[in-house]
Amino acid sequence: TVLVVDFGAQYAQLIARRVRECHVFSEIVPSTMPAAEMLAKRPKAIILSGGPASVYEEGAPAAPEGLFDLGVPTFGICYGHQVMARALGGTVENSDVAEYGGATVAVTAPGMLFAGLPHEQAVWMSHRDFVSAAPEGFTVTASTDVTPVAGMEDRERGFFSVQFHPEVLHTEHGMEILRRFLYEGAGCRPNWTMVNIADESIEAVREQVGTGRAICALSGGVDSAVAAALVQRAIGDQLTCVFVDHGLLRKGEAEQVEKDFVAVTGVNLHVVDAQERFLAALDGVSDPEQKRKIIGREFIRVFEQAAREIVEGETEPVRFLVQGTLYPDVVESGGGTGTSNIKSHHNVGGLPDDLQFTLVEPLRTLFKDEVRALGEQLGLPAEIVWRQPFPGPGLGIRIIGAVTRERLDILRDADAIARAELTRAGLDRDIWQFPVVLLADVRSVGVQGDLRTYGHPVVLRPVTSEDAMTADWARLPYEVLQRISTRITNEVREVNRVTVDITSKPPGTIEWE
Ligand code: XMP
Repeated sequence: TVLVVDFGAQYAQLIARRVRECHVFSEIVPSTMPAAEMLAKRPKAIILSGGPASVYEEGAPAAPEGLFDLGVPTFGICYGHQVMARALGGTVENSDVAEYGGATVAVTAPGMLFAGLPHEQAVWMSHRDFVSAAPEGFTVTASTDVTPVAGMEDRERGFFSVQFHPEVLHTEHGMEILRRFLYEGAGCRPNWTMVNIADESIEAVREQVGTGRAICALSGGVDSAVAAALVQRAIGDQLTCVFVDHGLLRKGEAEQVEKDFVAVTGVNLHVVDAQERFLAALDGVSDPEQKRKIIGREFIRVFEQAAREIVEGETEPVRFLVQGTLYPDVVESGGGTGTSNIKSHHNVGGLPDDLQFTLVEPLRTLFKDEVRALGEQLGLPAEIVWRQPFPGPGLGIRIIGAVTRERLDILRDADAIARAELTRAGLDRDIWQFPVVLLADVRSVGVQGDLRTYGHPVVLRPVTSEDAMTADWARLPYEVLQRISTRITNEVREVNRVTVDITSKPPGTIEWE
């Protein structure tokens, strides 16, 4: 494994993904983890990530004591570059001139990272502090007009670092530099491939579950579908998939799960109609976190009951619950690092304390693109593998205000129109996600067919993204927006206004709640 040490910003995830794109397994660890604990993971290499602090500030995160004595090849990036310089006896200073965005570095001595690459390279920078003198034993490999030490290495001791961000696509030779560190600097081998991931995960599930019975929370989304297909491969009929129709699904979703998924995988499927129960539990609740907690709780309760029903008359209870939790959920909920809890994702944060199951989370270490590739590897159809991500709490968190059956029906109709028109325009794969949000507590005046109306607005929230950590609002063609708007106001009773959300993430999140 390659350890990516997280210095408190969200750069670490992108670095971890890029390492995996080089077919080397990586995991994120907090910078507060003691060096001995890191060594116990037997890392082939360590990467120090960027971060928002200044190395000489009071309380700024530093490298764990003894990190540079472990004998593990280490690559410092941005803040990590400064941490390495300072820890080994170099100097870090604050500058009046910041370098944000595109810059050009000049290679001063090729060393291992830059050998054979062009003398001048476009890179992505984001810093104000800079390394003014490299530690003893290091060669300065690159510099810019304002940064004398933009790259340095001590090949003998296995230390490499750069001030710029090789993980960002704007850095021309970033991936090549990363590959060199991994393969040449650290001797990593490219054996993290889909076939291996599938085989290893299947083996791990077999080991965990043994002869036990498991149920899987099938939501219709790609994550739970891939998790279920994988577990089905591992333990066959010991798995029963439970599909809870909580009434917060989009139009046609239940049918898709029952038809497409079951046809391909042949899993045992148990459908529970729990619409009334969820509506009752959500009655009058408009606080987003509250909704998430309630939905998460009811979900598990319904499963527990289904689990009992499935094995009625048998002696073995169902002991395992399969969930499609992904690595970003784990990291964002603070499970991987010290990063703060941004939203309590119901896969992780909203589970009740009296949980009766042992969790099986075969995708816990994977990023979304890896899950899709794994789904294809397992033979799932494109309609499932390439579905837009859909939050576990479903339309419940896309109604701003309390959830009622009537509001759900309105939103379902508007959402179905938006999705259909996106597909018709051939834009499905260009858009990461396209939430439609109903502002249920807002009303505005309109005029339809000579009559004054007093209806609700909906918000279209199409976004592009690579991993949901950051996102941009999608520039949908005006004609597509216009067709969606006309159809929604014509066809959906109660909606008399359609708006488009043009906020990126950050500062907005993708969902409105
Ligand atoms: P935000 O709104 O935080 O969403 O930008 C990031 C991604 O996570 C999805 N999401 C959730 N998924 N349970 C889930 O399983 C949740 O509670 C939840 N909240 C947000 C969201 O759709 C987007 O893909």
